[in-house]
Amino acid sequence: MSLRTARRPSTLAQPRRTRQALLVLLQGQKGEKLPTESYKSHLLSSQDGPGHGECDVFIAPDGNVREVLCYDYGFRSGFGRLYQGGDGEIPKGFFALGWENYRKEFKQLRRSFRYNEYSDIRNLNPPTTFLGRLSASAGKKVVGGLAALDRQLEDWSVLPRLTPQPVPADIAGEDGEMHNDRQEIRSRLRDLQLDDELVWKREEAREASPEWVKAPWFIQAFYILLCWGLDKLYAGRPLQRFWFLETVARMPYFSYISMLHLYESLGWWRAGAELRRIHFAEEWNELHHLQIMESLGGDQYWVDRFLAQHAAVFYYWTVVLFFAISPSWAYTFSELVEGHATDTYDEFVAQNADKLKALPPPRVALEYYMAGDLYLFDELQTTGTDPKRRPSCNSLYDVFRNIADDEREHVKTMTACRDYSIVDDLARKKLTSKEPTLPKGATPVSSTTASLVK
Ligand SMILES: [Fe+2]
Ligand SMILES: [Fe+2]
Repeated sequence: MSLRTARRPSTLAQPRRTRQALLVLLQGQKGEKLPTESYKSHLLSSQDGPGHGECDVFIAPDGNVREVLCYDYGFRSGFGRLYQGGDGEIPKGFFALGWENYRKEFKQLRRSFRYNEYSDIRNLNPPTTFLGRLSASAGKKVVGGLAALDRQLEDWSVLPRLTPQPVPADIAGEDGEMHNDRQEIRSRLRDLQLDDELVWKREEAREASPEWVKAPWFIQAFYILLCWGLDKLYAGRPLQRFWFLETVARMPYFSYISMLHLYESLGWWRAGAELRRIHFAEEWNELHHLQIMESLGGDQYWVDRFLAQHAAVFYYWTVVLFFAISPSWAYTFSELVEGHATDTYDEFVAQNADKLKALPPPRVALEYYMAGDLYLFDELQTTGTDPKRRPSCNSLYDVFRNIADDEREHVKTMTACRDYSIVDDLARKKLTSKEPTLPKGATPVSSTTASLVK
């Protein structure tokens, strides 16, 4: 598909009115919609990326123009991301890909202590207790020691010479430093807040509701450990916290799909094939949440990537084990985690509403909510309360609101899987969503007959 290219000047420093006027110009003098080539979205200027002080605009399938967050702050780029690499690309072999990633991350590991990303984390999350100060001071010494060792190995030519992470050419100013606009958006993103105490209050309110089902003690303990770890490691860093949460949150869906595949391969159980489809749609949804957090800079620190990706592997196998023993245990655990995610996003949206409304959505959110595979999106809504959700996506506020609503859908589906009512939900959804197409002149059968035939 060929994309037309155009640019809008960076409008962050301009008043909102000017920004609106610019969009009206792009949409046409009388506000008419831009023509679209088939049912496809367009990201204007996507061929060579935004230049200095210029940002992309997105043309939705309905022809309306949307602002896009000017820059992508993610660590990954190209084939490490969806919508940046080619569609359906085949990866290299395991060892070649692993080696490539190891080299990339090893350099980032060295940079993490040579240019001390840990002090940045400490500034965002300063220790408040005696124990916290003690461990921060010990950590500082370890980082200093590793940096000195790295310098020494470099001097002995054991390791190659290390340079700071360069600012990508398309976003750097003439002095090679980060462009002002990019810094401004980044500082606005870093200014977003999340109060853990208020998240726990929401959690307590949910626990007091009549629908709450107490999980077995070992599941509860594992869940509390996960939440406690998130609170401690990511205080003052909500976007990194969300990135960690999304990295692990999609693992259960991989686990369920793996187990259902195994049962089908062994010839034990095929009735779960429908479930596989739903779990894939849920995983696809989580993948987009993850990429949204990446585009906002959630994966910039080496230490966060290391922790989240290793936790994800551990989490995957734990859920496989739970599912193998009792699917109900596995679904209960997911129900807890999804509930926590809902509370966290709801609280984040409530605390940062004005700041979020002042920022446009990232490209990946527009691709997913405005132009994505709506068949897969509809698969998420298993309980039939709102089978055709079509959320808006005009600002970062809408994006986080949508994510919170998606998490709510995940909770409902996990509850329905845990108590096996998903079977009835799916049957009802099938009956209500499909208008039968009858041959000309045929008489419709009654619903009773239809059920019998079925
Ligand atoms: Fe999510
Ligand atoms: Fe989720």
